Amino acid sequence: MATKVYQCLQKIGEAIIENKDFLTDLDREIGDGDHGVNMARGFTEVLNAVPQEEEDIGVVLKKTGMTLLSKVGGASGPLYGTAYMKAASAVQGKTTLEIQDARTICEAVIGGIKMRGKAEPGEKTMLDAIVPAYDALVKSLEEGKDAAGCLDAMCQAAEKGVEYTKTIKATKGRASYLGERSIGHQDPGATSSLITLQAIRDFAAENA
Ligand SMILES: Nc1ncnc2c1ncn2[C@@H]1O[C@H](COP(=O)(O)OP(=O)(O)OP(=O)(O)O)[C@@H](O)[C@H]1O
Ligand SMILES: [Mg+2]
Repeated sequence: MATKVYQCLQKIGEAIIENKDFLTDLDREIGDGDHGVNMARGFTEVLNAVPQEEEDIGVVLKKTGMTLLSKVGGASGPLYGTAYMKAASAVQGKTTLEIQDARTICEAVIGGIKMRGKAEPGEKTMLDAIVPAYDALVKSLEEGKDAAGCLDAMCQAAEKGVEYTKTIKATKGRASYLGERSIGHQDPGATSSLITLQAIRDFAAENA
């Protein structure tokens, strides 16, 4: 029987693969039309590369990050690869996670993406979904919400963040070449981050 963390990666992978064409269409509007293909291929590789029985969540996430780094090209491979590698360091040695761990994981993920991509929120990137989700997590934890409540709040904030990307100009990545013409289009990377988060929320709900 595969570990919970492997099953969660499967859930994320399924969601990414289901949305492959949608993500690629979004990237066709403001990029080069490869985001869905990149991410779907990446997760197929991840599910093959990650050992299904490995209990150490840090080891599993590190392997996930390394696979995305080595197998996915473009901007998103290194960015998501770094994100998973940083998440791995935040949970090294752990075999179970509590909702409080999500905070350390998000901090590591955001730090990694910023370091690698030199972007800040408001530049029409994946950070526009992830940073609001993190802010919602911090607030929800302070309010004493349970895991389901925190994850719901994170998804809602990320959804708003994705909507917000439609209203702003891209200043990082390939979409920045379009300048003002990138306005009105939803950012593919922010969308794949939202899809990832929703898959984690759904997985947690099914396994509560
Ligand atoms: N500097 C950055 N920081 C954070 N996210 C970024 C950055 N640059 C691009 N992105 C995200 O990556 C997404 C595009 O990913 P994709 O897989 O399509 O790579 P790509 O831009 O096609 O790469 P390349 O231009 O090298 O082919 C964007 O929608 C955006 O969310
Ligand atoms: Mg692209």
